[in-house]
Amino acid sequence: MEKTLVLVKPDAVARRLSGEIIGRLEKTGMTLVALRMLQMDRGLAERHYSPHRERPFFDGLINYITSGPIVAAVFEGNDAVNTIRSAMGSTDPAKASEGTIRKDYGIDIERNAVHGSDSAQTAEQEIKLYFSDAELLPCT
Ligand code: RTP
Ligand code: MG
Repeated sequence: MEKTLVLVKPDAVARRLSGEIIGRLEKTGMTLVALRMLQMDRGLAERHYSPHRERPFFDGLINYITSGPIVAAVFEGNDAVNTIRSAMGSTDPAKASEGTIRKDYGIDIERNAVHGSDSAQTAEQEIKLYFSDAELLPCT
């Protein structure tokens, strides 16, 4: 079964939207199999976002994502990566479709409330940054 990593980003945790966002993702039919709250340090943030290290927004992104607590979660299900990203909406909340999480809760292209892995392969790498295999608890 496909897995994907979700982060409720600092802007959303600070606005008390963690439960709402995790709940909306559960309503997609994907199953929550891991959950924890943490504050990223710069090392973890730079590893997580290493594909973006040459981008002009990289330093701002690292400052933002380390600025406060986040909620990390793993969801599992058929086509989990695409299902979760569809529910999240476009990166820029101003361009996100009606009914998506970023449309409803994103502030701007950086403070966009939620992260979801962009492929099954990326998901495997990202999940290892936050959870051990023993912490993934599939429901039976
Ligand atoms: P994510 O990785 O967080 O799920 O978002 P995404 O795939 O939709 O977007 P991506 O291109 O991977 O960008 C990662 C995060 O970087 C911030 N960003 N800022 N200032 C900017 O132009 C800019 N562009 C992207 C956002 O927080 C974005 O989610
Ligand atoms: Mg991405």
